[in-house]
Parts: sequence; structure tokens; C-alpha cells
Amino acid sequence: MASLGIQNVTKKFGSVTAIDSLSLGIDGPELVALLGPSGCGKTTLLRMIAGFVDVTAGKIMIGDRNVTDMPANKRNTGMIFQTYALFPHMTVGENVGFGLEMRKVPKAEREAKVKEVLTLVHLDGYEDRYPKQMSGGQRQRVAIARALVIRPDVFLLDEPLSNLDAVLRQSVGNEIRALQQRLELTSVFVTHDQKEALMLADRLVVMKSGRIMQMGAGDEVYNRPNSRFVANFLGKSNFFPGQCQAENIFRSDSGLEIRCADSGTGVQSATLSVRPESIKLGAEASSLDNTFEGTVERVTYLGSLTEIELRLTTSDLITVQATNLPGARFTSHVGEKVTAGWPSISTHLIAEYGDD
Ligand SMILES: Nc1ncnc2c1ncn2[C@@H]1O[C@H](COP(=O)(O)OP(=O)(O)OP(=O)(O)O)[C@@H](O)[C@H]1O
Ligand SMILES: [Mg+2]
Repeated sequence: MASLGIQNVTKKFGSVTAIDSLSLGIDGPELVALLGPSGCGKTTLLRMIAGFVDVTAGKIMIGDRNVTDMPANKRNTGMIFQTYALFPHMTVGENVGFGLEMRKVPKAEREAKVKEVLTLVHLDGYEDRYPKQMSGGQRQRVAIARALVIRPDVFLLDEPLSNLDAVLRQSVGNEIRALQQRLELTSVFVTHDQKEALMLADRLVVMKSGRIMQMGAGDEVYNRPNSRFVANFLGKSNFFPGQCQAENIFRSDSGLEIRCADSGTGVQSATLSVRPESIKLGAEASSLDNTFEGTVERVTYLGSLTEIELRLTTSDLITVQATNLPGARFTSHVGEKVTAGWPSISTHLIAEYGDD
């Protein structure tokens, strides 16, 4: 376990700024998920921590070591990749023992450590197999073993689950989390997938264009997004641009008067966000702080929930997610009029106005 400090780090590839003066600190055995759209700089940041990519400016610390200009093999990081990146001509045992061999660890000690780490990833006795004789999930566990056998100070994972099917994703994800906690590893986990990030991480870092938009615990970032970008990246939301008015009243530009939880100071332009799952329909809606009439425009059945698009009389189009319980499925049809409602506590004010 160590701490990791990224201080004002910038990376430019020619005229492209992949990472833009980014700072991030991790103290101790925490799993931090880097989340963001394709091209926002997640892999670049990870590779700079590992030492595979030079920084253009800024400083990287691992514990009290300044590793900014240190070669990758001296940093003591363990990295795993989306594509496993195992050596195909080496056995599992040789793959996992490779880092130890580079460090000139004697053979007997090396074999003992390889055996121990293979047990950790539930691959006892697989030493003599070749990667091509194993499934995707098993290969990724070999890659995890290879990264962990050196007892890294920092554990780096670049979309390690994205090549696995949904069931394996969950089980290998849970294994990674259990290992990270058991070995108390300082870890950075890159993913596109918000569910994966929410499931595994102590803290989420949402990135856009080489910068951090917001970081915090999953529920904090989900419930209190600081921008439309974050609200939309982590789940879905309904946005109402408008003005804050006195006594927790928000007036949307479209003419809705919405009771809200946050009180703006005086009249200010802002955006009110309401998550689709907090909107109720029909009888359930009628006693809530905010109720509006609308016409159903689309109904999509999604198994555990039904998603409904509703055109309000103000012409706002809102998305509602209704949980499907046995015998209590949403049954309205396109064209029907229904009441939609939500409590003031389900609103969240974003100090941002206009599109994105
Ligand atoms: N070696 C390189 N040379 C030039 N540009 C690069 C290089 N590596 C990355 N970039 C650019 O830097 C930016 C960030 O790329 P990066 O691979 O870090 O994104 P990412 O967030 O990992 O995306 P993805 O989710 O698709 O993996 C992109 O604009 C990319 O084109
Ligand atoms: Mg990437």
C-alpha cells in the first residue's frame, strides 16, 4: 500500500492536449475509478503513472518517491490491460513469474510466489498451461496474478473487464475488488462503464477532455452531479433550464413552476435536474410536491423497469422510469393523458445554464 499523487500533470501529443493540468491524490488502500468518454485521456493518465508515457509537465509521486522521470520498471506498479497482453509463448507460470525473474528473484522463491498468487486468483495448478488453452476470464486472472506477484505499490487496471461477457464481468470484477481490499492496494481502475465504476470503486473520478469534472463517492456523484455532463454520464436525467426564485421555487424557461430542495440565492439562471426513476405516474404522483399533466409519447419495456416518455403541456419532453413489480406494470398507451409527479427532495440544482 502506498499513496499516489498526481500534481498538475499535462500530456501533449503534438497539438493534442490529452491530459490538461490534472491533479489527483489517493491515500492508502483505495480503489479509484476513472470514468469518461472515449478519448478523454484515461489510458494516457494510467500509462503516465506506470511510466510508459512521459509527462509534458507536472509531477507524479508514489509514496514519497518522485517517479516523474523514473523508468517504468523502477516504479513498482502493476498494470493490467483490456487485452490481457500475456506472452503467448510462455506458460502461465512463466508469465506470472516474469516480473520476479526481471528482479532476479531466485527460482525456488519465484515458484513459491507464483503458486501463492495463482491460488489468490483461483488458478491453482495452472502453471504449465499456455494462454491459448484458457478462457478469457482465466487469462485475465493470469494477468491479474502477473501484476500482483511483484506486490505493486500501485495497481493500475485499464478496462480489465471489457472483453468479458456480462456474467464473467461481474465475477472477475468482484474478485478484483476482493483482492484489492485484502492486499490493501492503492488502485486506479479505468472504465467506460458507469455500473462497473459504481459497483467497484470507493471513489469515482469523472473526466472530460483531459480534465477532472467531478470526483467523490458513487452516491455523491450520482445524486449531486456538478454539471449536466456528469449527470448525463452517470445515468440519465431530465434537465429544466430556468431561474431560481424565492422560497425553493424554480421556474423553468418553458413555464413549469417546480418546488425544489435547493434554494437559489435570488434570481439566477441554472438547470434543475430530476432523475427519471424519481418521477411517479398516475395515482402515485398526485400527492407529491410537483405534479404536471402530460401525454404518453413512447413506452419501452425493459424487464425490471418500463421507460416512458411524456410530453408535458408546456411541451417539455420528460423521461420516466417505472419499476415493474408483479401485477403492477405500467399499462398506459401512447396518446393517453397521465399525471407525472416528483417530490421536491428529488430535484437537484446545477449551477449551469444552457446546453452542456
Ligand atoms: N500515442 C499517441 N499519439 C498521439 N495522440 C495520442 C496518443 N495516445 C493517445 N492520444 C490522444 O490522446 C487523447 C486521449 O487518449 P486516451 O487513449 O488516453 O483516451 P481514453 O480515455 O483512454 O479513451 P478510450 O476510452 O477510447 O480508451 C485522444 O485524443 C488520443 O487520440
Ligand atoms: Mg483507453
